[in-house]
Amino acid sequence: MLTIVVSSLSGGQGKTTVSMLLGLLLSHRGHSTLLIDADPQHNLTDWLGLDLEQNSPTLLECIKSSVELEDCIYPLTMNENLFLIPSDDQLDNVQDYLANSGIGAMVLKRRLEPIAKTFEFCVIDAPPQRSQICMTVIGAGNVVVIPAEASVKGYGSLIRTIDLMSNLQGVGATQAQTIGIIPFRDRWIGANQSQESRSAIEGMKEEVGEELVLPSIRESERYKQAINQQKTLSALGYPDLEYPLEVLLEKIELIKQDK
Ligand SMILES: Nc1ncnc2c1ncn2[C@@H]1O[C@H](COP(=O)(O)OP(=O)(O)O)[C@@H](O)[C@H]1O
Ligand SMILES: [Mg+2]
Repeated sequence: MLTIVVSSLSGGQGKTTVSMLLGLLLSHRGHSTLLIDADPQHNLTDWLGLDLEQNSPTLLECIKSSVELEDCIYPLTMNENLFLIPSDDQLDNVQDYLANSGIGAMVLKRRLEPIAKTFEFCVIDAPPQRSQICMTVIGAGNVVVIPAEASVKGYGSLIRTIDLMSNLQGVGATQAQTIGIIPFRDRWIGANQSQESRSAIEGMKEEVGEELVLPSIRESERYKQAINQQKTLSALGYPDLEYPLEVLLEKIELIKQDK
């Protein structure tokens, strides 16, 4: 299993968008894929239409190991290859557990070991804060993808995420490498890119190096349509808009082959 963490230390950076659409694309390509919603705001769980009954096992129980791991994994109706470990409001209660464990960054990695051969890919939607959950998620990852809005706020989010990554790598709390930055909501008016988008993306390239910045996700209502209908952009008839996710997918498939 190759575990991809989608992380960016602010809200509204495209984490849940990228996680969901990447999960759909991977499963459409026939890869057995596990999505993990690691944000207590549980947007991914909601967007995927999973309506949990009270006391259903979620990522909280998975991390605490208080139920069988299999019971935290739910099949999704849109594709037989796609599964979800959901989150709910209670997930924040795991922060103390992780902090007290002394090895917070290693916990989720350990918990997922039994299913490492069951799934080809795992995509984790990380929380927006530099929290214990965020650290255990990055600790579980093989690779990290950072979406960042093509704006001043997005640039700041990228800087904080890179800083966290180098801290965690520096103390051996993760083996994960950052494989790509995806500028999100890149704004164009006709053939002209907005000044803010252009300078934010230029700043990102200067910060991390040009080769790490993937093609941007354009500002577009069609992405919201895809999310609402739980479909890929090409299934909706907009393959051009899917290009950045395809580039990411190819990169991920190559890394998986080499693993
Ligand atoms: N291409 C796009 N253009 C404009 N808005 C988008 C696009 N893709 C997604 N969105 C919307 O942007 C918002 C923020 O994205 P989201 O993935 O939720 O960010 P995060 O998970 O980092 O908080 C969501 O409400 C989503 O519907
Ligand atoms: Mg989100």
